Amino acid sequence: MMKTADTIKETRDILKAHRDKKIALVPTMGYLHEGHMTLVNEAKKHADFVALSLFVNPLQFGPDEDLDTYPRDLERDLEICKENGVDFVFHPSVEEMYPKTPELILGLASMASILDGVRRPGHFEGVITVVNKLFNIIEPDYALFGEKDRQQLMIIKRMVADFNHDLEIIGVPTAREADGLAKSSRNVNLSETEREEAPAINQALEIGRDLIQDGETDVASIKERIEMHIMDHTSGEIDDLQIFTHPDLDTVQTVSSDVIIFIAVKFEAVRLIDNMLVIKK
Ligand code: PAJ
Repeated sequence: MMKTADTIKETRDILKAHRDKKIALVPTMGYLHEGHMTLVNEAKKHADFVALSLFVNPLQFGPDEDLDTYPRDLERDLEICKENGVDFVFHPSVEEMYPKTPELILGLASMASILDGVRRPGHFEGVITVVNKLFNIIEPDYALFGEKDRQQLMIIKRMVADFNHDLEIIGVPTAREADGLAKSSRNVNLSETEREEAPAINQALEIGRDLIQDGETDVASIKERIEMHIMDHTSGEIDDLQIFTHPDLDTVQTVSSDVIIFIAVKFEAVRLIDNMLVIKK
């Protein structure tokens, strides 16, 4: 029987009875989709008890971002969790997580000086602060995060190392729609036309990957080809497009090793991100 709780105290009481098991945590902001469920399925391979958190964390949204329109549906999410064999769902209110305006917010150095760390000031500070709280509340043995949000995954791995959290972070590959669009809770806020255009993001990443694997090394030309594909096939605007080395995230002008292509595209009401790891042949 799946258990649920909306308070920290109740959560700790419920989990007390399961401390003899390996516990995995899947942190989410809800409006669950198959991407989240790939994390749940991976969690089951490692742990005997899967906890999932549902919390739209206001601390990680900027003043002009989509906190108010972020999709929410608790009943639907609980049903999906039940169907997928989640053992416990923690779904706190904002007041439960932040009874007072937080005084202490975790900060980052260089890992937030690129990509969404720059485009979304305060975003990763909000993410690591809430994930740190969730780790303290649930005390899991494993926590799962998607490669869809690769910068987030890398930052959280680093937080665990820097703060000596006694748990293992497991990264999970991006789940995509049949047309290649990365699954995301935000996809429901695309207009019908935008939804038809959005697979161009993954196509553009594939164009970049193919160019690199066919021997193109000039980052400026690769970015130009990616940009052209987005401009020709969508009404969206490129908010960010960067190529960094893997796994160090160093800047490159000429590709000579494995790289990651990161992209963010802004549509009318939604900003979508995606990325692709390219193994240099
Ligand atoms: P959310 O966007 O709900 O994502 C929850 C987890 O699901 C993240 O680890 C994310 O990378 C993963 N995920 C999302 N789409 C995916 C896909 N298509 N394939 C694989 N994994 C996918 O990321 C957050 O919430 C928040 O920042 C959170 C970590 C919960 C902190 O508030």
